Amino acid sequence: MRILLLGSGGREHALAWKLNQSVWTNPLYIAPGNPGTAKCGINVQLDISDFDEIRKFCIDEKIDMVIAGPEEPLVNGLYDYFKATEELQQIYFIGPSKAGAQLEGSKAFAKAFMYRHNIPTAKFKEFTIDNYEDGLRYLQQHPLPIVLKADGLAAGKGVVICQSYVEAIAEFELMIQQAKFGEASKKVVVEDFLPGIELSVFAITDGRNYLILPEAKDYKRIGEGDKGLMTGGMGAVSPVPFATPGFMHKVEERIIKPTINGLFKEGIEYTGFIFFGLISVNGDPYVIEYNCRLGDPETEVVIPRLETDLVGLCIAATQKELDKAELRVDKRAAATIVATSRGYPTGYEKGYEITGLDGRFGKQSLIFHAGTKEDEKKIVTNGGRVFCVTSFGEDIEDAVNTSLDILDHINFDGIYYRADIGFEFKKTPNL
Ligand code: GLY
Repeated sequence: MRILLLGSGGREHALAWKLNQSVWTNPLYIAPGNPGTAKCGINVQLDISDFDEIRKFCIDEKIDMVIAGPEEPLVNGLYDYFKATEELQQIYFIGPSKAGAQLEGSKAFAKAFMYRHNIPTAKFKEFTIDNYEDGLRYLQQHPLPIVLKADGLAAGKGVVICQSYVEAIAEFELMIQQAKFGEASKKVVVEDFLPGIELSVFAITDGRNYLILPEAKDYKRIGEGDKGLMTGGMGAVSPVPFATPGFMHKVEERIIKPTINGLFKEGIEYTGFIFFGLISVNGDPYVIEYNCRLGDPETEVVIPRLETDLVGLCIAATQKELDKAELRVDKRAAATIVATSRGYPTGYEKGYEITGLDGRFGKQSLIFHAGTKEDEKKIVTNGGRVFCVTSFGEDIEDAVNTSLDILDHINFDGIYYRADIGFEFKKTPNL
């Protein structure tokens, strides 16, 4: 099967690594990919926001299957473009329709969807410039903290948890009046704050059936102890110790089933991955957000734990036969630690040589590239999140320690990573 994977981050390197192991794959193209994906397949310099460029490539290379890594092309309707273009209609496409991708592309859409299908989530109201004054009054009588979310895509930065009314009103004004996140914050969702502990749950669906992938927990803040600015993710662990069978049963019955059934009932086409960003409040799961793709860096622990052939699963999803598929999962724990560049997440430096990447690591560890590039036969930094080190272990602590040992031998100017990933789950907490 001739496969085209879209994207260039750590998530896509983990997917490419897995796809490359399948007997079905021949060849694997990654657009645009990174130096890590180049070891799993053939990188192609396509602009994945240019649908016509993707069309030409798929026709020229007789692509059989397209897998979308990031959300933007999906929110912009790449699935619909394939279905509306005669030469592309037969290609197996992993990713939802534009309507399905609205679960991520519009927070207001997602909240209304959850309300319609009785899926547990925080209470909310939405505001635009048209009801701005109502919004100010709503904020002033709302208990603290208050969660403000830009409605549209904002590169993971569109959610602000405000601890004071001054902060909430200033943020509200910045988002709506001053377009802090451009079009994305013309509408703002104001949500109740839910106290609890977060986890990420993933399913692959054919629109009717679904399989639940291993769950994960990511660590979004830059500083150890979950302090400081939000980032795209500094590490992740899987499994999540509090995701017991009892808790996961609640997740499936209260959240996953009603979501898949809701999409089906509303006639929204959805084939591919769905990401449930959840919070456990006193043992009950609530949805914080949906994403129409796999998470990053969660993919770097979820996919290595998946023993089932990923291409086979994707074929089953496109054939609406996921009820006949099954998942096998590695029982070991996995942890990934993200190495970032100096300055991240407010900005970052790039162009520094990375040394030690070719070290001889045991079979229990994998390195996934993200913001790297090849420059005169050297691998140099090219982004805020540079690469991840994923390791397996008997438990989370063991897996984290193995990744930390490897990170001791890799270096670039300004390297930073969190040594406390998985801290809540360690036998010997380091905090
Ligand atoms: N790790 C969260 C995300 O991928 O959005």
